[in-house]
Amino acid sequence: MIAIKRKISEQIADILIKINADSGINADTVEAMLEYPPDEKMGDLALPCFKLSKVLRMAPVKIAASIAESFSVDSVAKAEAVNGYFNIYLDGEYLANKVISEVRAKGERYGAPELGEGKTVVLDYSSPNVAKPFHIGHLGTTVIGHSLKRLHEFAGYKCVGINYLGDWGTQFGKLITAYRKWGNAQLIEAGGIDKLVELYVKFHEEAEKDAALNDEARAEFHKLESGDEDNIKLWRWFVDISLAEYQKTYKQLGIEFDSYKGESFYTDKMPAQVQKLRDMGLLKIDDGASIVDLEPYGMTPCLILKRDGSTLYPTRDIAAAVYRKKTYDFDKMIYVTSAGQSLHFAQWFKVVELMGYEWFDKLIHVPYGTVSINGEKLATRTGNVILLRDLFTQAIAKVESIMEEKNPNLPDKDKVSEAVGVGAIVFYYLSNNRIRDINFMMEDALSFDGNTGPYVQYTYARTCSVLSKSADCGECALKITADEETSLLKTLSRFEEVVREAINAYEPSIVTRYILDVAGAYNRFYHNCSILGAEDESVRNTRIALTKAANTVLGNAFGLICLAKTEKI
Ligand code: ARG
Repeated sequence: MIAIKRKISEQIADILIKINADSGINADTVEAMLEYPPDEKMGDLALPCFKLSKVLRMAPVKIAASIAESFSVDSVAKAEAVNGYFNIYLDGEYLANKVISEVRAKGERYGAPELGEGKTVVLDYSSPNVAKPFHIGHLGTTVIGHSLKRLHEFAGYKCVGINYLGDWGTQFGKLITAYRKWGNAQLIEAGGIDKLVELYVKFHEEAEKDAALNDEARAEFHKLESGDEDNIKLWRWFVDISLAEYQKTYKQLGIEFDSYKGESFYTDKMPAQVQKLRDMGLLKIDDGASIVDLEPYGMTPCLILKRDGSTLYPTRDIAAAVYRKKTYDFDKMIYVTSAGQSLHFAQWFKVVELMGYEWFDKLIHVPYGTVSINGEKLATRTGNVILLRDLFTQAIAKVESIMEEKNPNLPDKDKVSEAVGVGAIVFYYLSNNRIRDINFMMEDALSFDGNTGPYVQYTYARTCSVLSKSADCGECALKITADEETSLLKTLSRFEEVVREAINAYEPSIVTRYILDVAGAYNRFYHNCSILGAEDESVRNTRIALTKAANTVLGNAFGLICLAKTEKI
């Protein structure tokens, strides 16, 4: 559609320039104004001419009429002026030839905008805090982050996915204390992260009654920081146990990271940055702590060192950013976290700017809203959490039972149930604008009829089933005979624009909604047009080719949001 839109915009711009050469209008301005009308009866593309009436000093109705008078482009079947709009109807066969040959030629690259050649993007996402449970709150950073990685890769960027594990901090002091008091190595080896979480929860319960425990924990962390061998051994063990658990979830989602350098990696890289801040006169002592005053920028101060000289979350982020710039020389670095951390990122991004790092504006924070389940918020400390693992297990079990009813003889039932169960959760989550708070309703996510993961995966399987019964005709003549065909073609032609939009807005839900559009258009076509049974050979070939194109687009788009391609459901 991009190419077609371009041609149309160029011609309209030519016409408008003849009306007024000084208006400053060109093909770019026209292209930006072209809209997809909500109702196909109003055309496939429309130019709202009221947007031009000021620069042209002309009534919208007259502008539309003037364009209609001399407009002629070969991809356009009909164009007319209606109430100040210039409405354009595309030629079905032209579109079919264009879209189908392009999808065929590009295959897995169809829809990919060439934006990132020679550029590197670093993405910092998922990043759970070790020994705390991987709960539904981490779903957002994990799937939004990975989707943004896929989108950028698709657009040709070199991407580095970093899992910045929260593997350092006072929680390890708590865990070490708790382990020495109540822990049991064998039980932990057998029970994994759950046992660590139990210890963590127990620590907080006990510390409520006996505040001295907190001092002990602080002392243990201090020992860890100063390199105490026993504590380091324990720490490493806790990290390994946690990682093993996270890997299971990542595997289910099809996610791999390029680096697991967590917070602990930066301990020895912070002093140089603290020194630089000090040398530049940016550090202020406030009640014993070292801060960077951000009042001139309308923010509370950024904390660099605590009173006891220990470093903080922003200190580590600054050191990590400097290290990553040196290591990867990124063109963009994207951080995906809950919106609760927005101030933290705004603060330390500002500090990086004040430090004179000219790449400060390449740092991007991508926030997302909170998740609750059936209206319930989650808390880590009390152990009142829904683990991602349990959510997946529940979803998979539910899908298994649905499958048992619908398609008991399906081969590889376990694998398919896993793909559909996990996919349902991912899709449901990514259907929302990321910044909106979401209330997770399991029933809705798993429905096969709604706008859900199972529904779109089922549609994908449907295209596979049609294709398994027919051969693609190759370069055969195409014949468009039904509105549903044109409508599907138009939807398929928008893919690249959708990908661009999603990248520009850092918004995977744009892809998710598009997948629903494609699935809807394909299903309407499937129900109203006989494909394999079409008598006319060209019609049949066209419908098979359309199915193949829909299959490719759905498959490519699934890849962008971590949704598995299910050939059979
Ligand atoms: N570990 C942090 C948390 O779970 C998220 C880390 C985000 N990345 C960063 N560079 N600060 O809240």
